[in-house]
Amino acid sequence: MHNEHWVFGYGSLIFRVDFPYLEKRPASIAGWARRFWQGSHDHRGMPHAPGRVVTLVESPGNLCGGMAYRVKEDVFEHLDHREKNGYRRVDTTLLFRDDSMQEGTVYIAEHDNHAYLGPAPMAQIASHIVASSGPSGQNIDYLLELDAALLNLGIDDPHVNGLARLARAMLKAC
Ligand code: SIN
Repeated sequence: MHNEHWVFGYGSLIFRVDFPYLEKRPASIAGWARRFWQGSHDHRGMPHAPGRVVTLVESPGNLCGGMAYRVKEDVFEHLDHREKNGYRRVDTTLLFRDDSMQEGTVYIAEHDNHAYLGPAPMAQIASHIVASSGPSGQNIDYLLELDAALLNLGIDDPHVNGLARLARAMLKAC
């Protein structure tokens, strides 16, 4: 249908689904890797103390797994608002587990957006996440919920899993 679209979620769009959808299916997109390199001033941090959330960085040969949603066109108004802190819509090809494909949209925060934080050592990213919170909740809950959702989908993401292990250990040591 012309007013229906596929949206690919790889971060909070996997575990916090606050929009209506017609169908959801595990999917992946090629050439990207998930990284906690984007600052969050409006969800998991504050303007003076941004938290860290995921964006995608180019990674030739890598498949990034997530969840695809078939939505009505008007859902984008809500999603654009939710993802307004540095993300923009990018056209992409969604690969489903039965090898079928669909054209779709993904929200990516590129390195030139105002909230971008970029790479840092894993322990530094984990302690930043443990220390941050914002209007949508604790930053560590974003990390742990994403880690659990990926495990549930059978997606192995060493970056997310490694950070979750470090953050849990830091919490225990407190
Ligand atoms: C996404 O989930 O696809 C975008 C990043 C986020 O909102 O966490």
